Amino acid sequence: MAVCEYKPGLEGIPATRSEVSYVDGSQGLLEYRGIRIEELAAKSNFLETAYLLIWGELPSKTELEKFQDEVRYHRRIKYRIRDMMKCFPETGHPMDALQASAAALGLFYSRRALDNPEYIREAVVRLLAKIPTMVAAFQLMRNGNDPVQPRDDLDYSSNFLYMLTEQEPDPFAAQVFDVCLTLHAEHTINASTFSAMVTASTLTDPYAVIASAVGTLAGPLHGGANEEVIAMLDEIGSVENARPFIESAIAQKQKIMGFGHRVYTVKDPRATILQNLAEQLFEKNGSDPYYDIAVEVEKVVEEKLGHKGIYANVDFYSGLVYRHLGIPTDLFTPIFAIARVAGWLAHWKEQLAVNRIFRPTQEYVGNHGVSYLPIEKRS
Ligand code: ACO
Repeated sequence: MAVCEYKPGLEGIPATRSEVSYVDGSQGLLEYRGIRIEELAAKSNFLETAYLLIWGELPSKTELEKFQDEVRYHRRIKYRIRDMMKCFPETGHPMDALQASAAALGLFYSRRALDNPEYIREAVVRLLAKIPTMVAAFQLMRNGNDPVQPRDDLDYSSNFLYMLTEQEPDPFAAQVFDVCLTLHAEHTINASTFSAMVTASTLTDPYAVIASAVGTLAGPLHGGANEEVIAMLDEIGSVENARPFIESAIAQKQKIMGFGHRVYTVKDPRATILQNLAEQLFEKNGSDPYYDIAVEVEKVVEEKLGHKGIYANVDFYSGLVYRHLGIPTDLFTPIFAIARVAGWLAHWKEQLAVNRIFRPTQEYVGNHGVSYLPIEKRS
């Protein structure tokens, strides 16, 4: 077997062959199934994009309507899942609640053969439908309220915002939110997708696959960064303080949250779209002081770190949009998960089609032939 050079973080090492999405990090290009993200953000919606990612092509009108109806029908969660979630501590992070609830779905929906297309479709629909309901239910229950039932007359994003706030959202806000979901739906073999693929390769059930990916997305170097961005803007507090804050953080070799990417060496195209959306929202609903701080932060980071290819990533502006929609900061990553379920499922399906269990090798750098030391002789 050919021996490859060890690369920390598997940087640059292909882990699969995929047709799902493509990134050219030096050009700032992102395509889902060959379609540019800018076009999908402008013309598609999240559920249609999810269909595209998972089944490989845009649905016909009839296919899309059928898919939307199925997802709408499966939005409710069983009362036993809701009651289980009621027992979660309200101080717990919503990503932990989501990981546990996603895994719990596997208890309720029987495992069937993974080569059965009906089972695959059912799992796809259930996960896309129920994850938003679980995120909204935890939010309401941790505040001592009963969750609200999904509303069949509302589309995917409007219904989620309704379940979260108990108020029908402004159509423009719901549209912006839907674009955010589209932008976060997929991004090649990132950490959580790889985690989903490794779990999928053991032929376990799809709920375990998604639970595993949710756990991986939760980390601050991945999906958790958008929360940290808001914490950072909070700490900076004013436009004047942005430059000294960032310069001092860079001098102390701290990572600036919402910047840098393993793949992009230019500004993440999703950050550009999100920045435009944020500007439109603020124009319509009134300005946001955090946005002015963010723009100054971006300017300073580009000046200081642009030469290293460090620019704003998707997490930098998404938090600002969610904050403006009144979404609590610790729900930003669960919302990322709601969107990324589409990509995880697309890779799950792709993995099943060519499956071989993941079993990389290692470079052993430990000792050999060490004698066992009895406990009384150990220092
Ligand atoms: N702020 C300051 N310096 C940075 C940053 C940053 N955000 N990101 C990278 N660098 C610097 C590193 O210090 C390092 O410098 P050096 O070569 O002088 O030592 C160099 O750039 C390479 O950094 P690595 O950490 O090795 O790059 P890697 O590709 O492993 O990391 C990552 C990518 C994890 C995204 C990193 O840029 C980071 O931690 N960013 C902040 C967290 C963040 O925003 N994450 C969201 C990513 S997008 C997503 O997951 C949806």
